Amino acid sequence: MNEKNRTALIIGGCRGIGREITLRLARDGFDVVPSCRKRGAEAEALLDEVRRAGGNCRILELDVRDRDGARRILDAEFADRAPDAVVYNSGIAKDNLFVFMDGEQWDDVLDTNLKGFYNTVQPLVFGMLAKRGGRIVAISSASGQTGQAGQVNYSASKAGLIGAVKALAREVGRKGVLVNAVAPGVIDTEMTKDLPKDMMLPLIPLRRFGSAAEVAGVVSFLCGPDSTYIHGQVIAVNGGLVI
Ligand SMILES: NC(=O)c1ccc[n+]([C@@H]2O[C@H](COP(=O)([O-])OP(=O)(O)OC[C@H]3O[C@@H](n4cnc5c(N)ncnc54)[C@H](OP(=O)(O)O)[C@@H]3O)[C@@H](O)[C@H]2O)c1
Repeated sequence: MNEKNRTALIIGGCRGIGREITLRLARDGFDVVPSCRKRGAEAEALLDEVRRAGGNCRILELDVRDRDGARRILDAEFADRAPDAVVYNSGIAKDNLFVFMDGEQWDDVLDTNLKGFYNTVQPLVFGMLAKRGGRIVAISSASGQTGQAGQVNYSASKAGLIGAVKALAREVGRKGVLVNAVAPGVIDTEMTKDLPKDMMLPLIPLRRFGSAAEVAGVVSFLCGPDSTYIHGQVIAVNGGLVI
């Protein structure tokens, strides 16, 4: 498969893990369309970096919680041709023990991490089916595989994504659309900057946090020519945190 003239949409693709995914897929030859909520200096720097390397990049501004707004933007962007790869990377954590968790912490995390998948991926599936091919990758989490204390909301949303990926894989596989999830462990980004490293590292057999580039490499594989028989799977990138 030649990635030339292929388009990859990266929902939440302008910073953190998503930014690395955008850069990696651009290097693979995809025209990249990363999204962010507000186009700022970070997004402009990313656009510049991709273009200076000879790639094509357009940035979309959308909030995954806004169902109608997201659909409008995606319908307009992909009216002529559905994307060849869609990566759902947007996600937030609002940790608290369940006994103290308020409704806002529950709703914000579920709305962003799980409902956002529906709001942004569902509008694209018809076009991908009509084209009879494509890749969908959802960024889940080790917390969604095992459950994590203090993260009942986050774990539920990320386990929900795994269920969604597996069910969607059963629906769309025969039309050549491959659907998988990636489940990172602890990755060095803004989201994990306040975690107590001394307490976390002993739990990780590789004794280090992962890098965003290490997650991006797996997404690249799942969007590329070497994963044509991988479907409905959850690929863990966790240094052995979950075995
Ligand atoms: N870091 C880890 O250890 C780790 C581990 C497992 C899974 N993950 C998952 O990996 C993904 C990326 O995490 P990260 O570590 O890179 O976190 P991050 O640096 O905090 O980035 C969060 C991403 O989510 C997007 N986002 C948040 N709320 C949004 C909304 N309402 N609408 C649209 N986009 C929204 C952000 O976009 P804006 O640019 O608009 O803010 C940003 O791209 C998340 O799904 C996270 O759950 C991370």
